[in-house]
Parts: sequence; C-alpha cells; structure tokens
Amino acid sequence: MSQLPDGGISKMGTEEQPDSQEDFPVPRRKESWRGVPMEAIHRNLHLFEFEHLPPVAAGPLHWVMYELPVRESPPRPHKSPGKWDSEHVRLPCAPESKYPRENPDGSTTIDSRWEMIERALLQPIESSAKLQAAILSYNTTYRDQWHFRALHHLLDEELDESESRVFFEDLLPRIIRMALRLPDLIQSPIPLLKQQKNASLSLSQQQIACLLANAFLCTFPRRNTLKKRSEYSSFPDINFNRLYQSTGSAVLEKLKCIIHYFRRVCPTERDDSNVPTGVVTFVRRSGMPEHQVDWSQSGAPLGDVPLHVDAEGTIEDQGVGLLQVDFANKYLGGGVLGHGCVQEEIRFVICPELLVGKLFTESLRPFESLVMLGAERYSNYTGYAGSFEWSGNCDDPTPRDSSRRRQTAIVAIDALRFAQSHHQYREELMERELNKAYIGFVHWMATPPPGVATGNWGCGAFGGDSYLKALLQLMVCAQLGRPLAYYTFGNSEFRDDFHAMWLLLRSERTTVQQLWGVLRSYSKLVREKGAKEPREGKATKKKLYEFIREELRKEEAAVAPGTSRAAGAGEAVPPTTKSGRCSPESELLGKKAARTNAHSPDLFPPQASQENSDSSQEQAILMLSDDEEASAMMEAASLEAKLILGEEAKGAGSVARAGGAGGAGGRQLTLLEMLDSHYEKGQASKRPRKAAACSKVEGPAKSRRENDVEGATADKDAD
Ligand code: APR
Repeated sequence: MSQLPDGGISKMGTEEQPDSQEDFPVPRRKESWRGVPMEAIHRNLHLFEFEHLPPVAAGPLHWVMYELPVRESPPRPHKSPGKWDSEHVRLPCAPESKYPRENPDGSTTIDSRWEMIERALLQPIESSAKLQAAILSYNTTYRDQWHFRALHHLLDEELDESESRVFFEDLLPRIIRMALRLPDLIQSPIPLLKQQKNASLSLSQQQIACLLANAFLCTFPRRNTLKKRSEYSSFPDINFNRLYQSTGSAVLEKLKCIIHYFRRVCPTERDDSNVPTGVVTFVRRSGMPEHQVDWSQSGAPLGDVPLHVDAEGTIEDQGVGLLQVDFANKYLGGGVLGHGCVQEEIRFVICPELLVGKLFTESLRPFESLVMLGAERYSNYTGYAGSFEWSGNCDDPTPRDSSRRRQTAIVAIDALRFAQSHHQYREELMERELNKAYIGFVHWMATPPPGVATGNWGCGAFGGDSYLKALLQLMVCAQLGRPLAYYTFGNSEFRDDFHAMWLLLRSERTTVQQLWGVLRSYSKLVREKGAKEPREGKATKKKLYEFIREELRKEEAAVAPGTSRAAGAGEAVPPTTKSGRCSPESELLGKKAARTNAHSPDLFPPQASQENSDSSQEQAILMLSDDEEASAMMEAASLEAKLILGEEAKGAGSVARAGGAGGAGGRQLTLLEMLDSHYEKGQASKRPRKAAACSKVEGPAKSRRENDVEGATADKDAD
C-alpha cells in the first residue's frame, strides 16, 4: 500500500541472515528483517487471536453513543437529555448554542446557531468562494481572518472542470446533508475525555462521519479561539479552517484523503448503502504518578521479548493485528489540520475516523495515553512529509470484532521533544518516556496481550535517539510480556545494531532493572561530559550501545564463574515463556484490570485521592509530572551546563553549585531542588496547581433574554 519515504519500491535486504539465528527456523532468503519471524510475534496464532479491548459495554466509565445491543445496521443512536456544560462537547445544534447576528439596521438579533448554519448550507453553493462565505456566515468573528487558500487551490485549480462540478453538485451536498443530520444521529451528550480520568467512548462510524462533516464545515462552537485561557485551550483543534488556510503540497494531498473519505461514507439521496455500519472505541488511560513502575526493581528478562526488527515496511501495513503506535502529539493529531504530514498526521488522514478524537480528547499528560480501536482505513498513499501523496482508495480488509469494530488498535503516545539531543539521556526524562510507553502498552485484560508494532517513536520531529527509544520500548514490552515488532523505516544499519543489542541482552539474560542501571550510569556520563562537548549525531547513538556492551561485560566479569545471573532483585517478573504465553505478571495485571474493567479500574483510584494529594513530595511529583516541567528540566539542564562551563572557566572552588553536577564534594541537588533554584532565578515558570473547582456564586435569576444575550455573546467571544 505505502512505499518507503524515498518513494522507492522497497528493496529486499541484502544482508546475509546472521548465523546466530534464534531458536526459530528462518528461511535463509535475503530478508529485510532480523530477529523472530512475524509468526512468532503473533505467538504462531491467528493475526487477530487476542483482543485489544473487551467488547463494548456501557458502564460508569464507558459512554456508548448508540443503542446496545446493536439490532440495526448502522447502529441506532442512543437517546438521553443533552448537556451544555464543560464536561461535554458543545454541539452546534444544541438549543443553548446561540450566535449574535448583526442586522442591516445595526441591531443585533440573538439567533439559534443551528438555524444560521442550516440557512447558510442549504443555499446553493457552486464554488469554493461561496463555500467559504457560507462557513463564515456562522463564524462572523473570523470574517477577516480566515482565508481558505488551500481549499480554493484544490477545488478551483487542482480539480479539473468536471471534477469540480461533481464536487459541488454531488459530494458537497452529501457532506452537508450528513452534517445537518447531527440532531438525529447524535441524541445523547458526548463526554469530554478529560485529563486524569480513565474513560471510554464508543461511537458508530456513521455518527463519526456526521461529526467530521460538521468539522469539515467548521460548525463546532468555541473551538476556534487560540486564547490561552479559553475553554478548549487544552484540547486539539477540530474545525477544518486551519487546514483550509495552510499551504504546501502535503496539505492538498491530505485534503484529497479527507474528501475521498466523505465520498466513501456520505450517502446519496437515493442510496445509503455506503454508510459504514461499524463502531469505534476511544479509551483514555490515565495513571497515577505513584503507581508508576519502579524500573529499578523489574526482573523482566529483555531477551525473552520476541523481537522482529524490519528495515522495510510501515506500522500500519505490517502491524496488522498488533497494537500500532501513533507517534503522537499531546494534542491528539498534532498538525493534521495544519501543515504537519509525518507519522501521526498521515495515519489520521488515511484513517480519518481518528480525527474525531480531537473533538473530545483533552491533551495528554505524561502518564496518559489514548487507545483507538475500530478505525477503518480509506486511502492509500506514497511518500512522506513533503512528498506525501494520496494514491487512491483502500478497501480495508481488517475483520471486525464482536462489537463490530475493525480489529485495528492504535495507541497515541506523545514523546518528549528534545531541542538538544543530549537532554534525552537525563534519568528523569528517560523515566518519563518509559512511563509514557508503559501507559500506552499496558494491557488491561486477562487474555495474553497482542504484540506491539512500533518504530522510531519521538525520533523524527521530536529529535529523539532511536537507539535509546528502541531500548526503552523493549524494556516496557519486557515488563508487560508483549512481543515487539519494530520498523526502522529504511535504516538497515540501526536494524542490525538493535538486533545485535537484543542478542547480547538475550545471551546475558539482562533484566530491565540491570539495563535501567546501565542507562542511569550513561546518564551521569553524559551529564558530566555534556557541558564539555556537544553530543550530537551518530556519535551519541553508537556511544550508547558501546557503553552498554562495556558495562554488561564488566558485570559479566564481576559475576563469579559457574553462578547464574540473578533474574534481578526485587519483584521477580517471570519471563515471557517460549510458547509466547504472556508472563504471569501481565496476566495478573490483566486479571486485576479485567476484574476492574467492568467497574472503575482500581489500578487508578478515583480522582479524590488525586485531588487531595497533600504530601509536598507527591505534589512536587504531580508538579513535575507535567511536560512543561520536563521542558523546565531541559532548560535547567542547559543552564546548568552553562553554569559548569562558566565556573570551570573561573576555576571555581569545590562549593556545590545550585543545580549543578556538584563540585568536588558538592552534593548533587535533587531535581526538585535544581528546578526550585531555577524557579527562584525566574529561569523556569512554576506551574500553578489546578485550583480546586470553586463553587459558583449564584447571582439573582436572570431573564431568559439576558441569559441568551450573555450566552450568545459568550459564544461569539469564545468562538
Ligand atoms: N511506520 C513506521 N515508522 C514510521 C512511519 C510509519 N508509518 N512514519 C514515520 N516513521 C518513522 C520515521 O523514521 C520518523 O522519522 O518514525 C519517525 C518518527 O516519526 P515522527 O512522526 O516524526 O514522530 P515524532 O518524532 O514522535 O514526532 C511527533 O510529529 O506527527 C507529529 O503530531 C506528531 O507533533 C507530533 C510529532
């Protein structure tokens, strides 16, 4: 379906298959992969043998927007009273959704926003300019700001005469009809998947098409302002206006993918057989900082993770049936409705149902992830980033599960962005990445976890080192007993280096705890030397694996001959067994989670304990658990390096430096102390903790009109 980033046809690997092949018989053909064959990643079972999520069932933490059990196709919308509040999506068709309309005589009429939208969209629209005018007529705040240059370019220039006519005479009316069905396709409030809350939301593909048609027509209120303190400032954008204003060839190709999706799912007046009948589930996973894994106590053997590492292929094409990683932005979808066109953005336009997650998913905190199960693929593509091109229709062959979801599981986990490469080796930042991957890969069912399909997570736009990130993901898979399929996206040298490291970890029976100790030692090395020499590029990558090899050799030498390497102190985690059965630890975790899944997962106690956390250390951890704190750490690290350089130059004495690596005899400040020292100096902004929800002071009852005007003005202002 898709080709390698250089657009070239994937070439078969030329490397000889290494002799020391695994226990698995591997054909001696020149393969592009190393490690175990994909059959072993699937535990030599059917691709879809194991489930990623339990069947859809409404519960206190799972909102289902359609009637259960499903008796019709597509599923019938669930009905319950609408909500116009900060816990639910504000639908444009809600009676509370008002908008002030200026009259010719200068007076203002408070109108129902939905009526304005219907009036505007039911007019004949024969050109891109008229489409823009219609959209602006219910977004008057942005009349002078929004210029849909990309949309105009596509519809007026890219499409030829006949294609343009088909769009305006056939497809656009179908999109509009789908959008205006909002009041009858969405008949219950859509909850927001907010931070620090474990919650699931299931919608039918038809409902998603309706919501996305509204996003295409920019009808969602209060979602356009960029004001920092606005109601949805911690949510991704959902209205497509930003995409229409973006420039670049990739923008046009993304628009082609989206328009193609509407062509596939929006019915005509006479025939609705093309409406998809399936379901998609979104699961927000939110862990508690104090529940994080203690990586220095994990006895999980790294070599027991079945590893398949391939220089060819992509996660979406080769990771069928596995948990596929979305290299996300904490604002789900990243730049998909803007200029962006790398891994996450591409995934979201070839599987546009993922876009609806932007409507209700608040930005991800460091110990949170979002699992999306059921999204269908509608387009093929070639190229990558600037060379990305839509290359036609895709009829997704993926079978559906018992809840009618395509068995494609995608997990959004956002890596940290490193402006300076060497920051990523800081212990607390490596730990943040481990915990992020953990909350993404953890499997809350009693059945064995399917394998993970991933790659250079955080190593493109976010500037990470794939040599490090591959190991961190391997550690998490070892802890959770999940096979790992890793795609190096054309880099066969890294494929061989990662494979060789895995063979070494396997032969040495190295545990997570031991590797974590080695990484922490490397972190100290980088920090001590970091100030003296810039650590960029390949040198760092190679150095890391050379360092690990040396440390493992030292440890090997230190172990008396004839004694076996301990599985690691602390909580011994029985390894994944040869037959591929999951480790008892993840089964136990799974059983525990499965039991709690029907109720509130007791792995993550209810918010009260979160909100009432009163220990200063815990508060500090919560403070530090925010990515802004990670950025502050990186900033502090840079300042610290300059400090060291400065004092080195002055030949400073051995006095411990605030936040520094500590002079001779100087005590290493803790991260908190270091950060505090930088806060004091105003070098990092201290983030206020969330104020407890203040109780509204009710003023005297207002007339309906006063409320209306206030509401509408609020909408206009908040818009
Ligand atoms: N399959 C496997 N590997 C891939 C694929 C794919 N389909 N696409 C890209 N890669 C590899 C490439 O090597 C790429 O450089 O993953 C690397 C990282 O991809 P990025 O998308 O740059 O991911 P990241 O560095 O985590 O940046 C995340 O980019 O897409 C946005 O919204 C996202 O803001 C976020 C940022």
